[in-house]
Amino acid sequence: MKLMEEKILSEGKVYPGGVLKVGSFLNHNLDCGFLLEVAKEIASLYKDSGITKVLTVESSGIAIAVLVGAVMNVPALFAKKHKTTNLSGEVYSSVVHSYTHNTDYTIVAEKQFLNKEDTVLLVDDFLAEGNAVLGLLDICKQAGVSVAGAAIAIEKSFQSGGKKLREAGLRVESMAQIESMDSNIIKFRP
Ligand code: G4P
Repeated sequence: MKLMEEKILSEGKVYPGGVLKVGSFLNHNLDCGFLLEVAKEIASLYKDSGITKVLTVESSGIAIAVLVGAVMNVPALFAKKHKTTNLSGEVYSSVVHSYTHNTDYTIVAEKQFLNKEDTVLLVDDFLAEGNAVLGLLDICKQAGVSVAGAAIAIEKSFQSGGKKLREAGLRVESMAQIESMDSNIIKFRP
């Protein structure tokens, strides 16, 4: 999506360790008009997929998920992050390893909000190693729902997540794919 690439080039800041800061529009200060255009693009890509629910992980995925849900007129569910694994039987849960933060956390979603009849669209702000999406897929599998695909604001193609997920057969649509950020020069995958 040209608009996303232009936004990254004008406002994104490259940090050491392959981290891109996009707090001015995506995951701290939210540029609502811009994010709405992103949500419309995602909704149009998945318009024929029979989506009944959008699913993300707190916190930064929520903004896009809500807007996609609003455009598609379906609910947006966000898995919550828990430090404890002491959970009730009323939730689906999965352990996610964060490569960026080098920690494990548990994501949970209440069973009552995912029904077997649902067709789910996974949404997130970043795709790096793909572990958050894998955790969401695990929850969807436990719930027996169909997954139409994933929609990602920014994919870092120099990390393995996108390749892993696509090879596993998941449809992954990223609004921008960053191929490299060496020497502070951001290059997109054509
Ligand atoms: P993965 O899910 O693809 O495996 O990614 P990873 O564990 O590496 O990402 C962990 C967290 O770091 C996620 O947010 C993800 O959105 C964020 N992240 C990954 N790469 C970048 C980056 O280059 N820039 C920024 N700004 N964030 C990045 P989180 O810790 O779950 O936090 P949040 O959703 O509460 O914000």
